[in-house]
Amino acid sequence: MSGDLEGRRVVITGANTGVGRATAEALAGEGARVVLACRSAARGAAALESIGERAELVLLDLASLASVREAAARIAVEPVDVLIDNAAVAGARGETEDGFELAFGVNHLGHFALTRALMPALTPDARVVHLGSGSHEGVRSLDLDALRRPTGSRLGLGEYATSKLCVMLFHLELSRRFEGTGRRSVAADPGDVASEAYRNVPCVLRQLWTWRMKTPTEGARPSRFCATSPDAVNGGLYDAEGPRAPSALAQDPELARELWRRSEAWVDAVIGRRRAS
Ligand SMILES: NC(=O)c1ccc[n+]([C@@H]2O[C@H](COP(=O)([O-])OP(=O)(O)OC[C@H]3O[C@@H](n4cnc5c(N)ncnc54)[C@H](OP(=O)(O)O)[C@@H]3O)[C@@H](O)[C@H]2O)c1
Repeated sequence: MSGDLEGRRVVITGANTGVGRATAEALAGEGARVVLACRSAARGAAALESIGERAELVLLDLASLASVREAAARIAVEPVDVLIDNAAVAGARGETEDGFELAFGVNHLGHFALTRALMPALTPDARVVHLGSGSHEGVRSLDLDALRRPTGSRLGLGEYATSKLCVMLFHLELSRRFEGTGRRSVAADPGDVASEAYRNVPCVLRQLWTWRMKTPTEGARPSRFCATSPDAVNGGLYDAEGPRAPSALAQDPELARELWRRSEAWVDAVIGRRRAS
């Protein structure tokens, strides 16, 4: 999918604020029909109203695999040209409804389940765009068993970085599976953006911390590039300056395959349990 966005259908998770909303506004402005996949009806409705008739709202809570399944069924009634797995939690601790560490469960596993469920609806030249973060580069190893437990950290920053490593590994394995198909898996790094990602930081500190950061509109440029440019290649990672290499760990094909295998088994076990109950 490249060039003309007129009438193309783009699904964006977490599109009610920050980078996701700026991406939705930009793509709708170029003629795309945008599906705003948001967890809050009220916050989603505000975005829907400001974008106008090119937008539709689907409720999606990535911390619940049941909600992901319902949202995917609603979205899949029409073909999807671009899926932007944008939403994330940062600096938060806890567990998802299904008992996964919160950042992993929302940022990786929820998106993994959504993307897999939407696979039959993807057009032959569709793109899946993942939102990366430089924080993944600080992760030295991945303990897959720990992802099934809440963690003991105070700020949740390590959990966020680990979740973003998982996002990059998902991207690596998906791009391998897309080889030769015409579909592309592309990753975007928005850079440091003054968004609601810092909502948990106390007000004055937040202002000091974020005042030199990019605006969400600036931060949306890599996502827009990955979603539309003919130069955004399958398997690539792009920031505002151009192509970038992920960390060595994020390029480990065995680890990427193992994470895919486990993610599939975890999602299927939860869905199977729900069907049986
Ligand atoms: N900001 C940065 O400096 C930065 C840097 C590198 C990468 N990124 C990445 O860029 C992407 C966008 O971040 P942002 O800065 O725009 O953050 P943001 O302003 O905090 O927006 C995050 C979005 O994700 C949604 N979300 C959170 N939990 C969800 C859940 N369980 N189910 C569905 N949606 C959920 C939020 O919904 P609510 O509004 O309802 O909470 C919100 O719409 C993220 O993937 C982030 O990791 C950001």
